[in-house]
Amino acid sequence: MALWRWKRCDVYCVDIDAAKIDLLRRGEVPIYEPGLAEQIARNVDRMHFATTPDEAIRRARLLFVSVGTPPTFAGDADLSAVHAVVDAMPASSEHALVMKSTVPCGTGRAIARSFAEQGKGALAYVSCPEFLKEGSALDDFSHPDRVVVGDDGDGWAGDAVAALYAPLGAPLIRTDVASAEMIKLAANAFLATKISFINEIANVCEETGANVLEVARGVGLDQRIGPKFLSAGLGYGGSCFTKDVSALKLLAANSGYHFQLLGRGHRGQRVAEAPCGGKLARHLGSLAGRRIGVLGLAFKPNTDDMRGASSLVLAARLESEGAHVCAYDPIAIEEARRIMPELDYATARSRSSPRRRRRAGHEWPEFLALDWGAVAEAMAGTVVIDGRNALDSVAIRAAGLTYDGIGIG
Ligand code: UDX
Repeated sequence: MALWRWKRCDVYCVDIDAAKIDLLRRGEVPIYEPGLAEQIARNVDRMHFATTPDEAIRRARLLFVSVGTPPTFAGDADLSAVHAVVDAMPASSEHALVMKSTVPCGTGRAIARSFAEQGKGALAYVSCPEFLKEGSALDDFSHPDRVVVGDDGDGWAGDAVAALYAPLGAPLIRTDVASAEMIKLAANAFLATKISFINEIANVCEETGANVLEVARGVGLDQRIGPKFLSAGLGYGGSCFTKDVSALKLLAANSGYHFQLLGRGHRGQRVAEAPCGGKLARHLGSLAGRRIGVLGLAFKPNTDDMRGASSLVLAARLESEGAHVCAYDPIAIEEARRIMPELDYATARSRSSPRRRRRAGHEWPEFLALDWGAVAEAMAGTVVIDGRNALDSVAIRAAGLTYDGIGIG
């Protein structure tokens, strides 16, 4: 939902989850996203929360859809929530449905066709994909690299969405609906491929004695490649990359094209989990009975989102080999406990006294600032596996611990 400082828009937020709406009405935000609660508090006088769309339809012309499109078992996107919203739309020439959710290319045209069949042909349709990242959502939203507005008509709706975003001053791509949908899928698949690529390079670095940090720096300075999204680690997680890579692969297959690059070699998430478990086994021998600390549980820092988190697979793997995992995250413990109730969870107290624990890492500032001398004293073992290549290897080694990163040969 848009919160414009420069233009006093009222925003009508609708969700079928009554508990979520109740929380928002009380000024509480159901997810952790830095700055979001404060932003909502600052704008609460013009935000309205409801479980039905009636008032939004009465008051607003641009109806943004930002529901989840999780993967199905087959690997394509589950559009049931999108269709539920589409069915609730009015037969109106005064309104436009603006699709923010990531949907397969072709969805917009299918929706426009079904509008026509249902006698709602006058309702406009605009694709306006969202590119923000969790953990830096507000800043990404306010400073987008580009705004994409796709529409197939010559009507008012595309212009209205472009005008709404104009104050951001971002480059604007006006295009057709199918291309707008494809831009989103292609961007996510490309970013995921970039991470997969550097993770594969990290694996080769391990074997050859090269250091992936140096390699990424040297490669990223080539302006055609760029330095971002070249951090090797435990593999990408989250709700978007895996789903969108899979949706694009399936979309291509359903159109009769075999997208080889997104095939078996594209193992973004899985690619580094095995090496991490393997590293521990190399250092410690059998993991049976070992107590392993896992620092960082969400799929990245600054979020409590556990969807697609590497920690899920890593912890399950370590436990299946007989280790006892003690897990910690600055904000995601509650969510992690719901999904992995069998693990031990550290409290803030044991965080400062991490007794009898070996560690695998994550790039939260509080982990980066750890006093490794104190950690070494508190640990029974000596091995630190840095699954994000983010920790201070010099300080860790100086504390008498063994440091092992990903792709640091
Ligand atoms: C992603 C896209 O970046 C965003 O444009 C889209 O709108 C939604 O999906 P998000 O999943 O929130 O955003 O986070 P992102 O920062 O892209 O990280 C995804 C995963 O990749 C995380 O697990 C992260 O740790 C990992 N990652 C990222 C790497 O392993 N290496 C990198 O260099 C960058």
